[in-house]
Amino acid sequence: MTTEGAADIGLVGVGKTFGEGTSAVRAIGEATLDMPRGEFVSLLGPSGCGKTTLLRIIAGLERPSEGEVIVRGRSVWRGGRRLAEATRPISMMFQAARLFPWYSVAENIALPLRIQGVAKAERRERAHALCETVGLKGFEEARPTALSGGMKQRASLARALITDPQVLLLDEPFGALDAMTRDALNLELLAICEAAKVTTILVTHSITEAAFLSDRVVVLAARPARITEIVEMPFAHPRTLAVQESAEFRDMLHHLRERLTGAH
Ligand SMILES: Nc1ncnc2c1ncn2[C@@H]1O[C@H](COP(=O)(O)OP(=O)(O)O)[C@@H](O)[C@H]1O
Ligand SMILES: [Mg+2]
Repeated sequence: MTTEGAADIGLVGVGKTFGEGTSAVRAIGEATLDMPRGEFVSLLGPSGCGKTTLLRIIAGLERPSEGEVIVRGRSVWRGGRRLAEATRPISMMFQAARLFPWYSVAENIALPLRIQGVAKAERRERAHALCETVGLKGFEEARPTALSGGMKQRASLARALITDPQVLLLDEPFGALDAMTRDALNLELLAICEAAKVTTILVTHSITEAAFLSDRVVVLAARPARITEIVEMPFAHPRTLAVQESAEFRDMLHHLRERLTGAH
């Protein structure tokens, strides 16, 4: 049951098997999780443990083999069919930036608004404002080919944010970035998510990033793909990078690292 103030995202026994018989691959099994509005959760686990598959199922891009996904009280999958209404509050940022080379950076960022039929002047204004937020000021009219890998990721993040999503799904968004850029974008992301109470699921390989950003970290294991543990991050909000220097934070990294290696 979903009630007022209860789970914003609910996963109930979600599983996915690709293929059949001897070639069947169990991509994710029995994933169950309730996230209240505004919660930030990270998925941490080895390659192939089903992180991308789980995000795609939540976003309505991949059909689950079993289980149920509920977003803001609506079931995303009903009888194997996607309910478009249910996925409307969701924005997903993919592992690869996927920018269109023939559009400018601002036009790429504004694309979801164009699909929604928002007028050109407003699209431009909002895209330019977000360029400033993600550190792309001055590159609004550049082509994506002129951007570095990290800048493409920023543009991709801005595009995910432009519709003011209530649910944000991020698939290894900052993996290609240098540590300083990553820290800066992490702080920006935290501020945006906290201010707008965005319910966020982040896939990352970085234990530090997961611990710093999250309210809870979901540890996954491969073969069979499953959730092995859900760990609360007790650090106070608003968080600053100074948190990372505390003994409490270092102990948490140690704990997560042990869980992660123990989960293989
Ligand atoms: N479209 C697909 N068809 C067949 N197998 C797939 C497909 N997508 C993913 N898989 C398999 O499912 C498992 C989980 O993949 P994925 O969700 O991409 O893992 P992760 O993102 O954690 O690395 C892997 O074994 C992968 O090979
Ligand atoms: Mg993946």
